[in-house]
Amino acid sequence: MEISVIPVGGNTMKGGEKMRIGVIVLSLLILVAFTVNALAVGPGKTVEFAGGSAGKVVFDGKAHADKGLKCTDCHSKIFPMKKGEGFKMADINAGKSCGTCHNGEKAFKTNDQADCNKCHKK
Ligand code: HEC
Ligand code: HEC
Ligand code: HEC
Repeated sequence: MEISVIPVGGNTMKGGEKMRIGVIVLSLLILVAFTVNALAVGPGKTVEFAGGSAGKVVFDGKAHADKGLKCTDCHSKIFPMKKGEGFKMADINAGKSCGTCHNGEKAFKTNDQADCNKCHKK
């Protein structure tokens, strides 16, 4: 098979190369923009859970980042980096998910009636 070569002069060739480099630079910029955007999701992001009869729970990424927590403190050893089905209060009280920290040691505990509304809002 013969590869057809478009007859182009020296100047046009350079133009083509410039354009190719331009495309590469543009692709890199887009990639960087996307990466920065993905990272920005964490602190600024809120994740909402229905929370059953106790009222909805809004997890605030910024509130947690402000306490010095890093993405890797939660992802992915405690939570996947993806909104899931939600959690069970019994599991949280047993020290899973939010309860990994909200156990009265690292953060306020979850089984005190006075603290329910720190997470649950009606
Ligand atoms: C204190 C714990 C915690 C920290 C720290 C944390 N996250 Fe999350 N993140 C969560 C929870 C909880 C969810 C929801 C998981 C679920 O629904 O199972 C979540 C969900 C996400 C999601 C998916 C959101 C969606 O709507 O699908 C992304 C993306 C994410 N986190 C990114 C980050 C990044 C980036 C950082 C660091 C800047 C970060 N998180 C820090 C707890 C945390
Ligand atoms: C650290 C935050 C936090 C605290 C404090 C907390 N909860 Fe929850 N609770 C949650 C989250 C998160 C869910 C899961 C919500 C979902 O997935 O819809 C939940 C779910 C629930 C549910 C839904 C049904 C079930 O069993 O999972 C009930 C009822 C509930 N909590 C009651 C309470 C009561 C009562 C208290 C206080 C004694 C309390 N919660 C304190 C975060 C908290
Ligand atoms: C890696 C540890 C960690 C996990 C996991 C975690 N938290 Fe927290 N959370 C903290 C710390 C630390 C604070 C600040 C200390 C305190 O308020 O006791 C805090 C504070 C909060 C506050 C108060 C925010 C404010 O504005 O002051 C709420 C509400 C809260 N967490 C909800 C949740 C919910 C809901 C989950 C689960 C989806 C969760 N947290 C999981 C560590 C964690």
